[in-house]
Amino acid sequence: MCAATLMLAGLAPPASQAQSGKASPRERAGAVVFGEYCSVCHGVRLLKQDTAYDLRTAVATMSEEHFIRGAKTTRGAMPSFAGQLKDEQLADVYAYIKRGHTPNLDDVRMESNH
Ligand code: HEC
Repeated sequence: MCAATLMLAGLAPPASQAQSGKASPRERAGAVVFGEYCSVCHGVRLLKQDTAYDLRTAVATMSEEHFIRGAKTTRGAMPSFAGQLKDEQLADVYAYIKRGHTPNLDDVRMESNH
């Protein structure tokens, strides 16, 4: 392995930070679920946060397990999605949010139709 490769590897951001480039299949699936079920309260593209708190802040400190449990628990204005969404779909949403700022949900939607 050459020095340049090592340097690049060292500069790669940790997985917990916002990723650039193409969304993974899980992130794309999560974007669609989020747009359909969560964005009305948690903000379209996670950007407009009038009614519920910013889930990007939540996932920064929350495990996937905690997130899924949270999404299946009625709390205040937060409805339970236990009957509507599978854990796997909620895990996809977690991956999508974990990805960080996603400015092109529409592109993501279109990609996921292919
Ligand atoms: C009807 C509005 C609404 C919708 C729709 C909604 N949420 Fe929420 N959500 C809230 C509110 C309000 C809170 C803050 C609840 C509180 O602690 O008072 C919240 C909190 C949460 C939390 C934090 C729970 C915790 O343990 O602290 C998670 C995780 C979450 N929402 C996930 C989701 C996901 C995933 C979806 C889509 C599948 C979704 N929400 C859809 C309103 C909503």
